[in-house]
Amino acid sequence: MSDDSSSDPFASCASFASPRLDIAALEAALQGLRLGAPLVYFPAVPSTNTHAARLAQEGAPEGTLVTTDDQTAGRGRVGRAWKSLPGQQLALSLVLRPVFPPHFLVMASALAVAKAIEENTSLRAEIKWPNDVQVTGRKVCGILIETSPGYAVIGIGVNVNGSLAGDAELAAHATTLADAAGHAIAREALAAALLRRLDALYSALTMGGASAMADLRQAWRARLITLGRRVRIAQQETTLAGIAEDVDADGALLLRLDDGTLRTITWGDVSS
Ligand code: BTN
Repeated sequence: MSDDSSSDPFASCASFASPRLDIAALEAALQGLRLGAPLVYFPAVPSTNTHAARLAQEGAPEGTLVTTDDQTAGRGRVGRAWKSLPGQQLALSLVLRPVFPPHFLVMASALAVAKAIEENTSLRAEIKWPNDVQVTGRKVCGILIETSPGYAVIGIGVNVNGSLAGDAELAAHATTLADAAGHAIAREALAAALLRRLDALYSALTMGGASAMADLRQAWRARLITLGRRVRIAQQETTLAGIAEDVDADGALLLRLDDGTLRTITWGDVSS
């Protein structure tokens, strides 16, 4: 975290840890980026991903950002719900039209979130394969990437302020940045850092081809806490167990089963 508050564009932001996002401050911070404009804000919306997909189908430009203070029917991976903490989370969805394979979106979004967290707190952020971001061993961010012919939507949910202590089931494996860091965090500054990081990675992937992809994979792999651990992978009715040995060039997890065979895992929920 920077301790030079004079260089922080959000230092005097009236909405610091406020229940309402300061959209004008966020828009100003995103000036010049490819990702983040136009910015579509709702005080409340069922799901920013669903809304962004609708906009994409209607021809919204690449970079369109949908955000809200209260996502009333947020969607998670594998059909799960994403819990809302009104006024305390980030819920962001971006309309993209990538010219590279979607698994690089998985890597880029998780890496951008991890770096933005480290830029705005003193926490170390790690990635649980494929793209959950954790601090102090607990999930603070979930990412839902939905692809359709002609577009993709990246949905990012970050538990920023408030606490999950009132939800014992969730608190067993998830937390908020504020609980982990011990202080509230300006959501606008975190969102701006995240979008700046993602914008840079997205541009590199769009223009940089193979070397940008290799660099991204290496940076993402270096933050994976999953590697080298014994894990269980739930895939609907099936659960696989083994050692998470590595990831392949496409980001799939290479799981060494107890019978010695190596399985390539492209999706699933990992637990240790
Ligand atoms: C997961 O870990 O299961 C993914 C959670 C993704 C939640 C975000 S919040 C913004 C966007 N809108 C949604 O409905 N879901 C994603």
